[in-house]
Amino acid sequence: MPESHAADAAGHPPADDAFLYERIAAHFEQAIAQQTLGVGARMPSVRDIRRQHHVSHSTALQVLRVLESRGLIEARPRVGYFVSDTALQMPAAREPQQLGPFPMQDHRFEGIGERAAEYLNKARLKGPLKVDLGSAMPAPELFDAKLLNQLAVALLREQPQILVHGPSAPFTHPDFQASMARYALGFGVRLAPMDIAATFGNSEAVNLALDALTQPGDMVAIESPTFYGILQAIEAKKLQALEIPSSPHTGMSIEALELALRTHPNLKAVVVVPHLQMPQGATMPDSHKKRLVALCREYRVALIEDDIYREFVESDEVLKPCKAWDTDGSVIYCSSLSKSYAPGLRLGWMNAGRWQERVQMIKFARSRNLPVWPQLLGARTVGSPSYMRHLVRLRQQLRVQRQAAAQAVARYFPIGTRLSLPAGGLSIWLELPEQISSSRLYDEALAIGIRVAPGDMFSNTGHYDHFLRLSCGMPFTDVVDEAYRSLGRMMHAQLGLPPRA
Ligand SMILES: Cc1ncc(COP(=O)(O)O)c(C=O)c1O
Repeated sequence: MPESHAADAAGHPPADDAFLYERIAAHFEQAIAQQTLGVGARMPSVRDIRRQHHVSHSTALQVLRVLESRGLIEARPRVGYFVSDTALQMPAAREPQQLGPFPMQDHRFEGIGERAAEYLNKARLKGPLKVDLGSAMPAPELFDAKLLNQLAVALLREQPQILVHGPSAPFTHPDFQASMARYALGFGVRLAPMDIAATFGNSEAVNLALDALTQPGDMVAIESPTFYGILQAIEAKKLQALEIPSSPHTGMSIEALELALRTHPNLKAVVVVPHLQMPQGATMPDSHKKRLVALCREYRVALIEDDIYREFVESDEVLKPCKAWDTDGSVIYCSSLSKSYAPGLRLGWMNAGRWQERVQMIKFARSRNLPVWPQLLGARTVGSPSYMRHLVRLRQQLRVQRQAAAQAVARYFPIGTRLSLPAGGLSIWLELPEQISSSRLYDEALAIGIRVAPGDMFSNTGHYDHFLRLSCGMPFTDVVDEAYRSLGRMMHAQLGLPPRA
């Protein structure tokens, strides 16, 4: 195995560690495939890997993360990593076959808005669903509604005038700004409180960033596939979305992005979801984040970072977003509590770097400020011990649900289905045999009350109809198991094969 690559002073691996961890991960992958490490075997710890392969702590950790994202190993909290029982049943998600950006003729810049809306509307018109595997949201019972209600009531008691006061400057409440600035410091991002804006979820933050940076006709580079909300925002602003191939393990291909930056002078911004990328579930290694920030700086292109899932990553260390490497304000950082803490608050926040004033001006012109009470609730809770305990519980529960979903896929779905089992988060992403159409599957499943998210919601290139995103936000009950079995039957029927179970 390769020799030591020293980390820099801040403990980050050097750029070529990107390849080093891949080589070490491949070594373990082979050991698992040959059953040298059989199902249930304990993996070497981070410390063992450091010693055996002479690598830095972060490289060793990345090796385990990559193996976990491939579904080969699973973490048991405070015990270690073990070879998972789904490991030998399902091939891992593949790296993208496309090396450069998707060619322009593959892009249809319009249509995603209507397509996504059509999928959402069909499900709404169908009425109550039996099983909703289409929405990447934790089930309500995974949140602490009782505690949130107590906090809300206490706040209204303390400040009985809060609902009858109109907006007043400053437009983001200083308590919320102070609280988020403190929280961000904990994950390596230093922000002045006054440069934090409260937004209507992460969605408004990304929209504001695009408005501040672009004119109709400009090009924006995005991961392919990506969250359909980003594609919809780009289309609604009459921008062009340039899809950059992205790995299900390490996120956007930096090489393909560099090629795009060299060849598309009207490229104004890059949008990434660095942690648990939606829908593939990749988490970018620090070395990639650093290269991405440096590249955007070199080409004077803004980086919009949608960091809604950082807190969902299973990790022993605190993960830093790209913003932590921003030295000149070219990273616009966006996040939200919608998925992690209180979906009903619709509370997002952002720091727009060099564009902060412009973003605040646009926000004021468009929608004024966010109501004060959600901001105060956020200010009182984010980073508190109860908040951190809630996140630990949420991650644990979601891990159990993802594992159960992966096992159901292995049991019922056609042989050859590839799975990207991410190191955290709310969903799994599947590559199905090529003859299967997930848009057809959507209609067939909806007819019996099951909703899924078909692959073509996440791209405009037409390359993902045999991909599927399934939500793991709800507890895995017998009814959910039966829904997986039904989906497996429908897929086998599309292939003209008898079902496996
Ligand atoms: C990557 C990503 N960004 C943003 C959002 C939406 O965020 P919010 O509900 O805070 O507007 C989602 C929701 O699915 C998402 O997956």
